[in-house]
Amino acid sequence: MHDLEYLKKELGINLICLEETDSTNTYAKDKAVPLGSLVLAKKQINGRGRLGHDFFSPEGGIYFSYVPLEMSFEDVQLLTQKAGVCVCRALDKLIFGEAGAGSGDAVFRLKWVNDIYLEDKKLCGILCEKTSDRVVVGIGLNLKTEGFPNELKEIAIGLFDPFVTDRIEILKSIDQEQFYEHFVAETIALLNGLISEEEIKSEYLKRQYTLPEKA
Ligand code: BTN
Repeated sequence: MHDLEYLKKELGINLICLEETDSTNTYAKDKAVPLGSLVLAKKQINGRGRLGHDFFSPEGGIYFSYVPLEMSFEDVQLLTQKAGVCVCRALDKLIFGEAGAGSGDAVFRLKWVNDIYLEDKKLCGILCEKTSDRVVVGIGLNLKTEGFPNELKEIAIGLFDPFVTDRIEILKSIDQEQFYEHFVAETIALLNGLISEEEIKSEYLKRQYTLPEKA
């Protein structure tokens, strides 16, 4: 299982760990951090989502932005899809082991274009942004929804919410302290790997989620 040391040593990633920041994406874009940097923050004051939405980012969640070394990502939408697939694969691996969740329906699913759903609620958001000299891949994962405003509680879910751990028994045996580091490292290692456009698109489709129709 990968850890942050692996990212530094094997992938040459420059780690920037912050107690808090406005938004790790803003930091990665505006502070001119070197390409190949990974910015992590324990909380964000002004976490951002797509289309100008806020991303609620209290302490306890996972928030990070990666600036790939290679500028081969022409298509930000495909990069968003790739990041979604990588996050789902990392979650599958950390929770269900190397073999993933098995052949049944996917547990972690993708709602067009950048949201990851668990059951019928949003678990994770991805915001890819492009400037003249870099792309930034920002990922935010809810671990607990304690303290979320009521309007979000209805639509968001945390991986370690008691309700979820009751449903996914296996989560009880996961070391929550180590999960943070492993999740970040696995996701970034996968994102650095080659996945063909066809594979991204077909896995995205397999995991695709649409909100249930309102009665
Ligand atoms: C969305 O819900 O539309 C995307 C949310 C993306 C949130 C992550 S958290 C790390 C990075 N920094 C931000 O301000 N946003 C992304």
